[in-house]
Amino acid sequence: MIKVGFFSSQKYERAFFPQQARADVNITHFEQTLTPRTVTLCQGLDAVCVFVNDELNRTVLERLAVVGVRLVALRCAGFNNVDLETARRLGIQVCRVPAYSPEAVAEHCVALILTLSRRTHKAYNRVREDNFDLNGLLGFNLYGKTAGIIGGGQIGRALAKILVGFGCRVLVSDTQPQQGDFEQVELAQLLAESDIISLHCPLNDATFHLIGEAQFAQMKDGVMLINTSRGALIDTHACIEALKSRKLGYLGLDVYEQESELFFRDLSDSIQLDDVFARLISFPNVLVTGHQGFFTREALQEIANTTLDSLEAFAEGRPLDNKAL
Ligand code: NAI
Repeated sequence: MIKVGFFSSQKYERAFFPQQARADVNITHFEQTLTPRTVTLCQGLDAVCVFVNDELNRTVLERLAVVGVRLVALRCAGFNNVDLETARRLGIQVCRVPAYSPEAVAEHCVALILTLSRRTHKAYNRVREDNFDLNGLLGFNLYGKTAGIIGGGQIGRALAKILVGFGCRVLVSDTQPQQGDFEQVELAQLLAESDIISLHCPLNDATFHLIGEAQFAQMKDGVMLINTSRGALIDTHACIEALKSRKLGYLGLDVYEQESELFFRDLSDSIQLDDVFARLISFPNVLVTGHQGFFTREALQEIANTTLDSLEAFAEGRPLDNKAL
């Protein structure tokens, strides 16, 4: 029987991860994020199960090794929050859920694109106040537009399929060759020709601030930018300047560089201390959701199945299928 600490635990996850989900796996839920401060909760644990904003840096991993934790099970696809080098050195295994529902995230992108282009978020509020004025709600057709997808992996390809269905010309830029109903092009061509640009590559040293001042300069005026991947792919300050100059006509974000201070909790009674975030959401053409791209019933069930399979394999001393390391 292994003891697993389930960090950043949310109410909606508990039904999918009950305490005794599998015979050999005992789960304790912690609402706290795993950080150097909360790592003290890991005494007596064999494994930790973490999410996107838990900090698996060197300090945390070294303390986990000292108390005997031998597995970090990420219940997400990205693993940019784990210092893999240190984990390898300490003999801590790291596994993840490589694909739970690419369609969940791709469909959320489309929700952001359509909401921004047809301004349904504004229409909803207007109609509730008996305001049926159409001024300010003018949208544009997706049909015939060029959509640029940066990162043609599982989510990028799922989005490409949907956008082809809308009648878009789809461009993909990727460091690896990708097959699909799209043209694979260099990043410069994608930036120059796209009406809508959506980011679907992982965050790493090569992609940190992939979209900054120089890239905005190459884009069409009034372009729409969507990021459901990781916040730090975009230089937020450059983004605010691009919004002010109207280079950027629409911005849809499901992720934000400093989201770990904000997302996944109710801060409605607090004072917003993040001035950059406050500025971002003050623009009428910016739509932000709090990292909910993955949040469908189907995806949660798949995340639970894959994570519990990994924990069970670890408990039984079998090799893990979904190693990040
Ligand atoms: P994937 O690994 O299937 O695809 C990523 C693609 O990006 C690969 O084809 C890779 O070759 C490409 N790539 C790597 N570096 C690149 C670069 N510099 N330029 C262009 N392409 C590059 O990953 P998947 O499943 O499609 O997920 C993509 C990202 O979406 C994840 O890394 C994660 O950060 C994010 N994500 C967000 C979720 C949300 O709820 N908002 C949920 C799940 C994933």
